[in-house]
Amino acid sequence: MPSLSIIGAGRLGRTLGRLARDAGYTVVDVLCRDAVHARDAAGFIGAGRAVSQLTQLAPAELYLLAVPDAAIADTAHALAEVGVLPAGALVFHASGAGEASLLAPLAECGVRIGSLHPAFSFAEPARAVTGFGGTLCALEGEESVCSELERLAEALGGRPFRLAPGGKAAYHAALSMASNYLVTLNALALQVAAGAGIDAAVASQLVGGLMRQTLDNTLALGPAAALTGPIVRGDAGTVARHLTAIGDALCADAYRAMGRATLRLAGERLDEAAREKLAGLLAPRAG
Ligand SMILES: NC(=O)c1ccc[n+]([C@@H]2O[C@H](COP(=O)([O-])OP(=O)(O)OC[C@H]3O[C@@H](n4cnc5c(N)ncnc54)[C@H](OP(=O)(O)O)[C@@H]3O)[C@@H](O)[C@H]2O)c1
Repeated sequence: MPSLSIIGAGRLGRTLGRLARDAGYTVVDVLCRDAVHARDAAGFIGAGRAVSQLTQLAPAELYLLAVPDAAIADTAHALAEVGVLPAGALVFHASGAGEASLLAPLAECGVRIGSLHPAFSFAEPARAVTGFGGTLCALEGEESVCSELERLAEALGGRPFRLAPGGKAAYHAALSMASNYLVTLNALALQVAAGAGIDAAVASQLVGGLMRQTLDNTLALGPAAALTGPIVRGDAGTVARHLTAIGDALCADAYRAMGRATLRLAGERLDEAAREKLAGLLAPRAG
């Protein structure tokens, strides 16, 4: 089994380190800037030498750079400067948003670079190690890098898949839209419901229940078939009344923007006359 060192053994680093050890990987070094953190992490992983300086790193085949996103590029730079990584080694980070190219200074030293992003929340390592099985892991890098990361992800219990070259930003945008905007949509719908004088606890059940049911339908049927409501019915009168009722300008902007996307999703279910009328109502407002 290959050898792996972990640079930045926080929540994700500890969890993957432990899973790798359990899968038979040899954990060589466990590095944190704080020596106490490094010892704790090596203890949790159950393997590896605790170190706190990049210069102390021993040769390994794989290096997981699991420092916070904002520190990845600087750490890669520092690693390239100390020059302790063997040529041909593979260094990868676990950021969802950042490209493998954050590690570019290492590539210039003959080290292979990549990224492996598990779509999982590592809030607490002890819980994370038991819940990680089946997690989708997005891989990015050249062919030989992806093959090696695929083997690692599978050994950890994950389900790897590859991103197209340059696909990291679109990948992360999709996840952010699906997760963050769902929350925002819930908040906006509750705000509009409050305008109808609905009690907050009732509104939460009303809006939340419908969101849950709609998500279930969408996942079962696909977005186009799951779409219901006034836009896909071509009911411009109802849409106009909605816009009058929504007082808040930002909320009305969001309604119109999502409405235009809904219009596109409705496709041929709408006739041209209804589509034009709705497009007029949902057009962006100047200023
Ligand atoms: N947590 C998640 O749910 C999750 C999910 C998917 C992907 N990720 C990705 O995993 C990576 C690590 O995230 P995390 O949540 O595990 O972070 P974390 O818990 O904050 O751990 C970061 C680790 O890096 C070290 N560190 C902190 N600042 C550093 C710096 N400036 N230079 C060098 N080392 C530093 C810390 O120890 P010392 O302070 O002792 O050095 C610690 O061991 C990130 O790229 C993140 O995007 C995280």
